[in-house]
Amino acid sequence: MIYTERDRHFKRYTVTSALPYANGPVHIGHLAGVYVPADIYARYLRAQGEEVLFIGGSDEHGVPITIKARKEGCAPQDIVDRYHKIIKDSFAELGISFDIYSRTSSKEHHETAAAYFKKLYDEGKFVEKVSMQYFDEEAGCFLADRYITGTCPHCGNEHAYGDQCEACGTSLNATDLINPKSALSGSKPVLKETKHWFLPLDKDEPWLRQWILDNHKSDWKVNVYGQCKSWIDAGLQPRAVTRDLDWGVKVPLDEAQGKVLYVWFDAPIGYISFTKQLKGDDWEKWWKSDDTKLVHFIGKDNIVFHCIIFPSMLHADGSYILPANVPANEFLNLEGDKISTSRNWAVWLHEYLKDFPGKQDVLRYTLCSNAPETKDNDFTWKDFQLKNNSELVAILGNFVNRTLVLTHKFYDGKVPARGTLTETEQEVVKELATFPERIGRSIENHRFREALSEMMNLARLGNKHLTDTEPWKLIKTDPARTASVMNLSLQICANLAILCAPFLPFTADKMHRIMNLPAMGWQHAGSANLLTEGHTIEKPELLFEQIDDSAIQAQIDRLLQTKRQNELEAWRPADVKPVAAFDDFGKIDIRVATVLECDKVPKADKLLRFLLDDGSGTPRTIVSGIAKFYPNPGELVGRQVCFIANFAPRKLKGVESQGMILSAEDKDGRLVLITPGQAVADGCSVG
Ligand code: 2FM
Ligand code: ZN
Repeated sequence: MIYTERDRHFKRYTVTSALPYANGPVHIGHLAGVYVPADIYARYLRAQGEEVLFIGGSDEHGVPITIKARKEGCAPQDIVDRYHKIIKDSFAELGISFDIYSRTSSKEHHETAAAYFKKLYDEGKFVEKVSMQYFDEEAGCFLADRYITGTCPHCGNEHAYGDQCEACGTSLNATDLINPKSALSGSKPVLKETKHWFLPLDKDEPWLRQWILDNHKSDWKVNVYGQCKSWIDAGLQPRAVTRDLDWGVKVPLDEAQGKVLYVWFDAPIGYISFTKQLKGDDWEKWWKSDDTKLVHFIGKDNIVFHCIIFPSMLHADGSYILPANVPANEFLNLEGDKISTSRNWAVWLHEYLKDFPGKQDVLRYTLCSNAPETKDNDFTWKDFQLKNNSELVAILGNFVNRTLVLTHKFYDGKVPARGTLTETEQEVVKELATFPERIGRSIENHRFREALSEMMNLARLGNKHLTDTEPWKLIKTDPARTASVMNLSLQICANLAILCAPFLPFTADKMHRIMNLPAMGWQHAGSANLLTEGHTIEKPELLFEQIDDSAIQAQIDRLLQTKRQNELEAWRPADVKPVAAFDDFGKIDIRVATVLECDKVPKADKLLRFLLDDGSGTPRTIVSGIAKFYPNPGELVGRQVCFIANFAPRKLKGVESQGMILSAEDKDGRLVLITPGQAVADGCSVG
């Protein structure tokens, strides 16, 4: 039973999830934004008995891949082979239930994408234009997309790419960039003539305006609708769908040697070519039937491509359906900072799976309950621990475990008979019946956080029922009523096994196994009669375990280490101070001295006391705040240092300091004493 009125007439669902670039593994940002919600949706629809095709695959073209290959000195194919495998395997281990996970470097994809282009070309759907494009004279090639960087004309971001500014999300043409620079050689590119084929988006404006702005105001997410509106209102421009590159789907025209399809032209066609790979001759109904609902799960940086450019490609062909919805999410941050592949600021899925074996559902739960559905959100390891320990363990795990343990203790693992229910218990039964619809409606409306929280409310209801009735006490005075209480608890557990499955598939499988449940669909849920009297329950097993502080601290430490490394890599010498007069420098009396004694100042962690031979005949005391960097101060005795001799004396922790010893601050903040390169007379001036 589909609960959303407008969805009822659909016979099948084509659910796509953005194809991740195969130039790196996937991280929690990808998962929270796209794959976890898409998987919940697909699993839910299957549980509803709907016909579903859930498509995923690797996006293996595009400049990010060739840039990475150049950096590593290997072929682009090596890069995509490596990451396609990592991505595919880790998705499978997390239980992302794609019906197919393919790749755009496959032969079938190349054929489908080239044929798609050729049909539009033959039908005169493109505009041919000879235009000026940036060319790198040092590297001897045209600079497409990410091969060129510069300042975004919209927001001033100095690291915008030739096709998109990631800071403001605007899609760009390379010639829009201010101060363009080649990402290959760093040189300033020149403009050179080249011919390309353009999708005339300007001509699509009327129908796009009507289709999105008039028809989807109420059912598309506010962020998606808003981005589309500002694009359309700003006026759509023709968009080049070919590039002067050698990695990608070759443009199927004799006159287009050395040109490939723009990655954003070929990648979404991947959804279609993968359907063909899986379904063979039966593929068309998934793309060309009005009773198919097409839904694209994407991140917000992909909105324009899925709501405007791909639909205009589908419309240009004329035989395809358009997406009914594009539930794009915002971004997930990590510990307060933007997730970044280049800065290694991420939790990588394949690493998580190694560090937390068997805890796939904990990650799925955390990412769904904190999904960036309406605004950017933050993932923190502390919150991950809290969600596991205080919600999964303490609410869901606790309820199921208490119920199963008591069933074994009182009834040897057999479901007891249910007698007459009290009024309160009848209320519980009534409420139980409402959960499938509440959860289902939220999922159908892409409100996955709300749906998950409703599912947990059922576990809360179960806990409350146990706490209110206290069967562990009741058994001594009223065994018949205890049996009813336990029967109802077990029915709630069986319902949870069905209703948690889209979110927590591993937990659902475990519950099915422990409770010996047959395969059941969503339509079975809501009933208080799923388990018959005498049905056998296996020995209880814990559904979730506590995650202790040390496991969390190890992850936090790893991130701190990454942060330190990034800071070191980003370090640049400070800007030179404003011009100073030579006379100002002349006022400072810098000299050389030899260390006679050096020890820690008592009760001052940071301070060292130096006794110096400054050549005057009277030793000089200077206190310096460098104790942290010289743990064995005695070793400094005999070393020459530079110091300022004419600062007024001042007391530090009771010791009079007669000057200041000079040190350099290294990029990691370490202070290092300045020593003359060779021995000089104590007291001689530095200048
Ligand atoms: O943004 C990205 O990671 C793209 N690789 C998404 C492509 S989605 C689809 F159209 F293929
Ligand atoms: Zn910008």
